[in-house]
Formats: sequence, structure tokens, C-alpha cells
Amino acid sequence: MEYRTIIEPFRIHSVQAIDLPDMTTREAALDRAGYNLFGLHADEVIIDLLTDSGTGAMSSEQWAGMMRGDESYAGSRSFFRFEGVVKDITGLEEVIPTHQGRAAEKILFSVAVKDGDVVPNNTHFDTTRANVEFQGAEARDLVIPEGTDPAAILPFKGNMDIGRLRSTIKEVGVDRIPLVMVTVTNNSGGGQPVSMQNLRDVRAVCDEYELPFYLDACRFAENAWFIKLREDGYADRTPREIAKEMFSLVDGATMSAKKDGLANIGGFLATNDESIAMNARNLLILTEGFPTYGGLAGYDLEAVAVGLEEVLDENYLRYRIRSTAYLAETVAGAGVPIVQPPGGHAVYLDAAALLPHIPSHEYPAQALAVELYRAGGVRGVEIGTVMFGKPDPDGGPDSPAPMELVRLAIPRRTYTQSHIDYVGEVVIDVAARAESLRGLTMTQQPPWLRHFTARFAEMG
Ligand code: F0G
Repeated sequence: MEYRTIIEPFRIHSVQAIDLPDMTTREAALDRAGYNLFGLHADEVIIDLLTDSGTGAMSSEQWAGMMRGDESYAGSRSFFRFEGVVKDITGLEEVIPTHQGRAAEKILFSVAVKDGDVVPNNTHFDTTRANVEFQGAEARDLVIPEGTDPAAILPFKGNMDIGRLRSTIKEVGVDRIPLVMVTVTNNSGGGQPVSMQNLRDVRAVCDEYELPFYLDACRFAENAWFIKLREDGYADRTPREIAKEMFSLVDGATMSAKKDGLANIGGFLATNDESIAMNARNLLILTEGFPTYGGLAGYDLEAVAVGLEEVLDENYLRYRIRSTAYLAETVAGAGVPIVQPPGGHAVYLDAAALLPHIPSHEYPAQALAVELYRAGGVRGVEIGTVMFGKPDPDGGPDSPAPMELVRLAIPRRTYTQSHIDYVGEVVIDVAARAESLRGLTMTQQPPWLRHFTARFAEMG
């Protein structure tokens, strides 16, 4: 008999207590933090769905690996173990460890991107966009049109729009496009996967114009699992085989091992371009460390090496994707609008649909995130006009982001089904009184990545 329930494929070996701060504590915390959930102390949060990045539980094998960490400054055993695993999965020749994903982005874009360039991507994540813009280049999002329609149900809503990629190349000219990037899964577009066929199509365009093609590979294993489930011809392939095929189509990749590396810190830049690798290593020495540790301890390299193997386990991926879908079904079943179909690492609540009375320049998704925290101590993150809108130079309303979402990101191997049932209850309760929610005004903001430190006041 095959039973229906997909269980967590692990036992819990070590636990961390959760404080249960009451409503008074939460109100005071919101006031102190200026209604920015990044300003909360983690102990003021009950269920922390701010991010799936670096927040997961490591396995006993990873902890055992950490004991093997070789802390030699140059040429450590742990580096060669790490390099071996990355090369085996990606097939890419040059492997440069970094302390996290954005450090890989920073060195890649510093050596490959110049002022006036345009970098196409399906959707840039916030740090990726900021690192492109920091070079004086334009970060252009070319996801298919359905990719920004929360209600559109498509198996691969993260795909790049090949027509728009071609027209961008024609408009801008190949000389101003240093590389094409595709993010798997498409985090800012709802954690939606990209099909193998779409990766092949992007490769074909890049070949035609002789452009390098890079993956933002943070959630490559979750993307591989969606390909197995949804794309013709992949049902009988292993996640590892699918991941290898994905990487075989690109010239390089940036990776945050804080996601599908199942580690708390780490990342890498991998590339087949020797000249980019040489320049990136030189820069790495300046900012991150020697090229065999790149800002990481030897034991971190071990944790990532083991994590990259574990993340491709079918039992893990089946549970991972199913547990995200479970939260999505709980809230959508109660009529709460979400990005459909649910993504791999997170459920995205559609605040524009839930709070039509709050205009984008009064930050409906921020208002929803604040209320989820106030009501139940659940911390999600706004992915809307606070994160991606642009302030008006003349002091008028911000230009709106394409979507107003609250992302509930699920840390890997960390919360149980009852934690998730609790989150469902909180979301459904807040959604039931959506009309009573009010917008926010932004009272303070920095020049870039404003969502991390902006302060707000609630409107009357
Ligand atoms: N690319 C994508 C698609 C990401 O989701 C992230 C991080 C990065 C790059 C940067 O990696 O954090 O290791 O420097 N995303 C986290 C999140 C922060 O919450 O989605 P990093």
C-alpha cells in the first residue's frame, strides 16, 4: 500500500526553542522597527518566513563534514572536496568560492559588465539588480508576460520571453550585452521554474549572437524537480541528471549555497571562461579571500559540498515541493489570492488582489506583511513597491512594481506541519478582515536596496 501523506524524510536530532512573544511585545517591536520587519529581533518572531536563505537546518552529515574542515589558508582539502562536487554537478571548469551569492554576482559583474551595458534576465533578484546597476548598467527583466500575472497557471511561468530577448539584442546591440542571465527558479516572479526547453532556446539565441549565458542557480535543485514533474521526457530522469543537463547549457553560474546548498553561508561563481575566472580571482583576493576559500571557513566548504549532494535526493525534493504546495493549498482553499501555481521555496500572497483599496504607493504588500506579524508573529517579506518601486524625483508617488506580493519563504528542513498549519490560520484570519487594513507612508529611505532599512508609519 502506498500511503498518501508525504512525510518529512528526516528525524529531528537537535531543537531550538521558539519564544512566543505576545501581542503587546509585537506591537512594541513594530513601533521600534518603523514597521519594517527586517528591523525585528528574531526572538520577537514566532514563525520566521522572511527568507529560505541560510535559515535551513543542516544534516548530521553536514555537521560531521564540518569536523573534517581543513582550515589551511591555501590549497585546503576542503576546497578540493567542494570544487569536486561543484564541477561534477555543473560541469563548469573554474570554481571560485564566495561567502554568498551576491559576492559571486559582485565579482562577475565587476569584471564582465561596464557602464551603459544591458543585462537581460528573466527577473533579477534584488541583489542581482543592485549589483548590475552598481556597474552603471541596466538590469532588464524579460520574463514571459504570464510571469507577472499572479493568477495565470502555467507549468513554467519563470521562462524568459525569447521574442523580447531577441528584440532587446536588436535594440541594444550585442556590444552592450555582456551576458544573458536566467534565474532558476525565478524568485522575484513567484519562485516559478524555467523549463529545459526555455534554457535550450536561450542558449540558441546566445549562440546566434555569440553571447555568454549564465545561470543564477540558487534554487537549481527545486527547478530540476519541477522539470521532472512537469516537462515531457524527464519523468524518469534523476534530479542530478536534470541539473547536469541544465548546467550543460550555460557558460557559467552564480550560486548562493544558502538556498540549494543547504548551508547557512556560502556560494560560488563557476565559469568556463578562463579570462573572467582569472580577473574574478584577482578581485576575490581583494575583497573575499584567497581563491581556495573565498571568504569561507574550510568547514563551510565541507557543509556546502555535502549539502549540494543532499539537495538532489528525490525524497528530500518530493517533501520540499509538496510542503510548499501544502501551505499554498491551505490558504488558497480558503479563498486567499496567491501566485499560482505555488513556487518551490515560498508561497506568495497577492496583496494587490486582497487589498484593492490600498494603492501601490501606500504599499499594500508591506501593510499585509505587518498585519501577519502583528496578528500571529509570522514574518514574511514584501516583494512589491517597497522593494522594486522607484521613488519619484519630484516627490510624487513611487512608480509601482509589477506585482504586490508578500512572500512566505519556507526554510529548508526547519518547520513541521503544525507550524505550517498555524501559519495558514494566521493568513486566513488576516485575509478575512482585509478591508480593515490601512496603507503605510514611507518616512525614511536609503538610496538603494531601500526595503532593508526604510521606515514607515501606518496611515490613519
Ligand atoms: N539570486 C537569487 C535568485 C536570490 O534569491 C538571492 C538571495 C541571491 C541571488 C543572492 O544570494 O543572499 O546568498 O547573497 N535571495 C535571498 C532571498 C536573500 O531571501 O530570496 P545571497
